[in-house]
Amino acid sequence: MTPTLRIAVLGAGTVGAEVMRLLAEQRDDLEHRIGAPYRVTGVAVRDLARDRGEHIPRDLLTDDAKSLVADADIVVEVMGGIEPAGTLLLKAIASGASVVTANKALLAQQGAKLYEAADKNGVDIYYEAAVAGAIPLVRPIRESLAGDSVNRVLGIVNGTTNYILDAMTRTGQSFSQALAKAQELGYAEADPTADVDGLDAAAKAAILGSLAFHTRVGLADVTAEGIREISSADIRAAERIGRVVKLLSIAERLENGVSARVYPVMLRKNHPLASVSGAYNAVFVEAEAAGSLMFYGQGAGGAPTASAVLGDLVTAARNRVVSGHGPRESRYADLAIVPLSELRSRFYVSLQVHDRPGVLAAVASVLSENGISIATVHQEPLPCGDGDGDEYAALEAVTHLASESAMQDALAQLANSESVARVLSVLRVEGE
Ligand code: NAP
Ligand code: HSE
Repeated sequence: MTPTLRIAVLGAGTVGAEVMRLLAEQRDDLEHRIGAPYRVTGVAVRDLARDRGEHIPRDLLTDDAKSLVADADIVVEVMGGIEPAGTLLLKAIASGASVVTANKALLAQQGAKLYEAADKNGVDIYYEAAVAGAIPLVRPIRESLAGDSVNRVLGIVNGTTNYILDAMTRTGQSFSQALAKAQELGYAEADPTADVDGLDAAAKAAILGSLAFHTRVGLADVTAEGIREISSADIRAAERIGRVVKLLSIAERLENGVSARVYPVMLRKNHPLASVSGAYNAVFVEAEAAGSLMFYGQGAGGAPTASAVLGDLVTAARNRVVSGHGPRESRYADLAIVPLSELRSRFYVSLQVHDRPGVLAAVASVLSENGISIATVHQEPLPCGDGDGDEYAALEAVTHLASESAMQDALAQLANSESVARVLSVLRVEGE
């Protein structure tokens, strides 16, 4: 007779409530798939008084998460945040439990500690839901592509920002209007910082980079820029050059190491990621032998995220039933982190310039002095000046490949140039 597996759940919010619903509604199927019966031993929450519905009976609720994790076979962490989640997972692992977590922030900041503890204690740690919600991505990269060499992972991994950029593109809304709508629809949090400043996507880039390149990439290794500064003019400019603005998480294998970064780019319209609309996520993987692969689906939401959590739970449970283990952290490649300043990109630069003779030449000269070659230029009058009686124009240039550091130097010079009133925006241009 196979012993009953004890499952402890930390959190009963958006994801936890759906995990509990699926555990109750699909018990028969799940127990067949696992090969053993299971019992939820408790659900840790902060507020014990709140009614959690039929799938989370009151007698399962506890505010003593420490005791709960000390007596379980599998701990499902869907409470979020760094603490107490980190300490609780270390305690669970030390007590011999396998762990399933959806917590990208924790993994990106403290993954190394957790993986080492899991390794030492011979237990599993699974985290499919931490990157791109329902989309199977961690397992394909960690297991299906284990025999291949991944060169680059390019993803739209934040639904909130994709919704905002898509709304700005489709409806002409400003960033603030699109953000307000995203909040009204429940995509964006009341405090949207982690999403719009690229921090959520950065945590996911760290996880993807570590998995894809068999090395450690932490949150501090990822350069992140968000979308707060994206203007309607940028969206129109992208349209004019056959592109759309997307926030991309990029993890890339280079000759001298690995680069992980998040920033908004102007992406050519025929790139598979360009058509990803609304709050959807998609990840494009370029591998040596497999070629290009695309993963697409719902990157957030209670039920989609719970689907990924349950998949991990079944896998971890099956491993326990046969006394086996899932893959360990693979970090043998031990690659250096290549800083953004050493990379080369194509850039879109928009400048508010004085509309008078010699300005175009002055701007071209600054770019040329920094070794930056212009591919295309567009200029149009700016309707309202600065109230100083002078005429202004928006001068937009798209460059050929240029080094990041050269562009930073050029921008500093342009900002001080008499010809330039202000630098309006700078975006990378992705793809040919
Ligand atoms: P949530 O709705 O805020 O729920 C968090 C749950 O954890 C709540 O039930 C809360 O208790 C409980 N909790 C928080 N701190 C606690 C503490 N110190 N002690 C005990 N219980 C505590 O969060 P969520 O949206 O479900 O997200 C959970 C995790 O999944 C996060 O790591 C998130 O990044 C990840 N994730 C979420 C999504 C998504 O679409 N929501 C998608 C992918 C990944 P109370 O109910 O009593 O407040
Ligand atoms: N805030 C995230 C998003 C949720 O908008 O995609 C999933 O991590």
